[in-house]
Amino acid sequence: MIRIGLLTTLYEWRTTMATFRIWLVGFCLGGVFLTPAVAGGQETGSASDISGIQLNTKGFSSSQQCGQCHKELYNDWKRGLHADSSGNAVFKAAYMQAYFELGERARSVCLSCHAPVAYFNNDPKLTQPISREGVSCDFCHSIAEVLPGTVEGPQFRFEFGGVKQGPLSDSKSPFHKTRYNVLYRQSMFCKGCHELKSRNGIPLITTWSEWQESPYADKGVTCQQCHMEQIPGKTVVGSLENNARNQISNHDVASGHSLTKRRQALEIKIVGIETHKNRIRVQVDLTNKGAGHPMPTGLPIKKIILKVKVEKTDGGRRQVQKRVYQKVLADAQGKTVTNVVDLMLGKATTVISDNRIGPLETRRESFTFFVDQPREQTVSAAAYYNYAPEILQPAPIHIKLNEVQGRVR
Ligand code: HEC
Ligand code: HEC
Ligand code: HEC
Ligand code: HEC
Ligand code: HEC
Repeated sequence: MIRIGLLTTLYEWRTTMATFRIWLVGFCLGGVFLTPAVAGGQETGSASDISGIQLNTKGFSSSQQCGQCHKELYNDWKRGLHADSSGNAVFKAAYMQAYFELGERARSVCLSCHAPVAYFNNDPKLTQPISREGVSCDFCHSIAEVLPGTVEGPQFRFEFGGVKQGPLSDSKSPFHKTRYNVLYRQSMFCKGCHELKSRNGIPLITTWSEWQESPYADKGVTCQQCHMEQIPGKTVVGSLENNARNQISNHDVASGHSLTKRRQALEIKIVGIETHKNRIRVQVDLTNKGAGHPMPTGLPIKKIILKVKVEKTDGGRRQVQKRVYQKVLADAQGKTVTNVVDLMLGKATTVISDNRIGPLETRRESFTFFVDQPREQTVSAAAYYNYAPEILQPAPIHIKLNEVQGRVR
């Protein structure tokens, strides 16, 4: 008999990330290149006075202006990683390193996805507040088409002129024109930034193509359906509220950094415990049941670690074995490349292994432990998400996703 229980974890990923970032403020990184992002969590006023709002019809407008009316969408977006994509300390540290190695070219390479407004407005020093809004409202809602090409940055065709494109076919705003564009419901929309090859053709970020090869693409389940799911909320508040609908797409794209989502994605089961003389053989199934791409996806410095522990029931000797799931890239000398900037700058020349857990795949792993008394042992299996961004020195992030326990009978 195996008893399975889910242990709750000590902290939410988001809390960790928040503390982590606050802690980093002290480093004052990147001050030379980037000024701090627009003040976090800024509340916008009510939309009762919309007379003062002036949208830029020749280029991008500030997200704060959109937030005057689209307040709930704004607040969700502001909490998410897109709003902080150029302001967070992990990016700034990497950007600084890229700048030292690449000089001015780093600005265009890194900013094209992390500060796209700066990139397209040709403000590489991010002098304008709008340049520091990360992946902003108007950036996304001016995209008319995603063009082919994933090397060193995204390729888009924009349409400005006060037209906001979106997923609603029956939306009317007295304030700006709206245009229905089916692209907003398609994964293709996200491809522009979530697919990247280095100059030498090595795939660095392959989330989109991984999704495209997954069973989810066949079933028509898009990135948006998982990462921008429909939630209760008003599209507009204030004086225009009677034009509003009561459902919005979640704009906080939290999934990657949200522990809840990660837990939903990965299931662990102890499927067998066999004892034989002084040996215990444990079999564990690890299933990627909720992610539309391998776990982990994105930058190849992320890992999932499975740890299986056998311990004397009375708290005696403990043994741990582990398996690591990741994509490993190496340089021409065969040396593993683990630094984000080295990867981004094309120092890796081959993918030497990739054992990440594919969408809907179950991986069965066996572990053998040698013990004195197999019957007095407790067995447990836990999965961790591990990510070690480099700030000034490596700052590992190690989060327990979930754990199951079994008992030798
Ligand atoms: C990363 C790109 C991106 C950013 C940034 C973004 N949006 Fe969206 N937005 C989308 C996509 C994609 C959809 C459609 C999602 C779906 O329905 O599947 C959408 C939907 C909408 C809609 C239609 C109603 C709804 O919720 O589905 C409105 C209005 C909207 N966004 C406004 C905003 C505002 C205001 C901001 C800034 C606070 C913003 N968006 C930021 C991509 C973005
Ligand atoms: C094609 C778009 C694209 C380009 C170009 C790009 N990035 Fe990124 N970057 C991303 C995406 C998307 C992520 C989100 C994480 C993931 O998918 O793993 C990311 C994540 C990161 C992270 C981790 C941030 C965090 O909060 O955990 C760092 C650091 C980073 N990028 C640095 C850089 C640097 C430095 C450059 C320039 C050399 C660069 N990026 C160029 C798209 C890009
Ligand atoms: C003065 C108020 C106001 C401001 C400011 C405003 N909008 Fe809107 N917007 C609306 C209203 C009203 C709707 C209709 C809502 C609905 O259909 O539920 C709308 C609809 C939209 C849609 C849906 C279009 C579609 O067809 O799917 C998008 C996208 C959008 N706005 C983006 C923006 C962006 C980006 C900004 C900032 C540059 C912005 N809006 C600024 C009032 C405003
Ligand atoms: C069936 C639902 C589903 C679909 C479809 C899906 N995702 Fe995810 N995604 C998840 C879950 C769950 C996680 C959290 C687990 C993880 O980190 O791998 C996640 C994680 C991520 C992460 C964070 C990666 C990390 O490990 O830190 C990024 C970036 C991401 N998704 C982007 C995308 C993009 C872009 C698409 C479309 C091309 C997409 N996802 C399609 C469910 C989905
Ligand atoms: C203009 C470029 C751009 C576009 C378009 C874009 N993203 Fe992102 N996205 C980024 C960057 C850059 C990051 C990394 C932010 C950071 O520094 O942590 C990111 C982060 C994310 C994350 C969080 C990853 C994590 O590590 O937790 C998810 C989830 C995500 N994006 C989903 C989407 C989805 C879904 C779409 C399409 C609707 C989309 N993105 C469109 C640039 C973009």
